[in-house]
Amino acid sequence: MVGINPEAATKTPPKVVTFRIRRYNPVSGREWWQEYKVETSRGMTVLDALLKIKEEIDHTLVWRYSCRMGVCGSCGMVINGVPRLACQTQIAEVADESNPVVTLEPLYNFPVIRDLLTDFTGFFEKHKKVKPYLIRNDKEEQEDPKGPYIVTPEQFEFMEEFTLCISCGLCYAACPVAASDPDYLGPQALGYLFRYVVDPRDEAWEMRLMIADDEHGCHRCHYAGTCSMVCPKVVDPAQAIQRLRNLLYKYKLGLLRKKKTSKPAPPPKEWKPRKPMPPEAQLVSPDVDLKKLEEEPVEIEVDGVKIRLRYKIYE
Ligand code: FES
Repeated sequence: MVGINPEAATKTPPKVVTFRIRRYNPVSGREWWQEYKVETSRGMTVLDALLKIKEEIDHTLVWRYSCRMGVCGSCGMVINGVPRLACQTQIAEVADESNPVVTLEPLYNFPVIRDLLTDFTGFFEKHKKVKPYLIRNDKEEQEDPKGPYIVTPEQFEFMEEFTLCISCGLCYAACPVAASDPDYLGPQALGYLFRYVVDPRDEAWEMRLMIADDEHGCHRCHYAGTCSMVCPKVVDPAQAIQRLRNLLYKYKLGLLRKKKTSKPAPPPKEWKPRKPMPPEAQLVSPDVDLKKLEEEPVEIEVDGVKIRLRYKIYE
């Protein structure tokens, strides 16, 4: 799995690393490999190195990034042959003294716009196809819900993993089926689809199963499992696809029991007004010197640990 490797941040990468980058100029149509030597330091990520190249060596290099912390999912690229997030990849993870070279390529299975920048239009079209939002039968209620829908901790635990997807496209870039069938919905979209099928708040599960049943849907998966291997959020879309197939077979054989959907939670019971504080709690004894209380910290002990508190008196 290619999640965060906290240990790598404690290692020191080679002093100078060569970045071998696959470049593409859409105006001239030229494609070539270009090398940049970058001085590194401990804790430096591939994204940091790219920013250094852009600032100090070659401002024409193009890629996409935003959050720098593995949340937005926009800095995906192929690093040493594996789709990864540049901001989440320590240089020390992918280069060492015996081989101080890192190769960077745009994500596979995506059209390249320029250099490491890829076009996600088709990818998000597939994402839209699976209707990645809650659908209720009562449209009025959907537009104006009367309250939050109830999801039990057990129900949430079952689908939580699949809510973590950040749509970075790494799974799609690693998928051998997406490489041969451009219309294949792909692990990201199918993972989302599964997440809504099992979400107890959603009522459109039958329609969703029919989307998965498409000729470019879940049956195309060869179960290579590479999607799950590269997910930076450790989601397992390969498992979601297999579960979808299982649900579909049961559905077609009439063995799938109707899903129980959650109802809106009843309005909270009225809050009881708080008991007023006893008069002695509201008054400061005339013997207390407020100025002294502010100036001198008070020491208390909690579980054997001494804590010093300093009071601030507001008038
Ligand atoms: Fe946001 Fe890397 S920059 S995930």
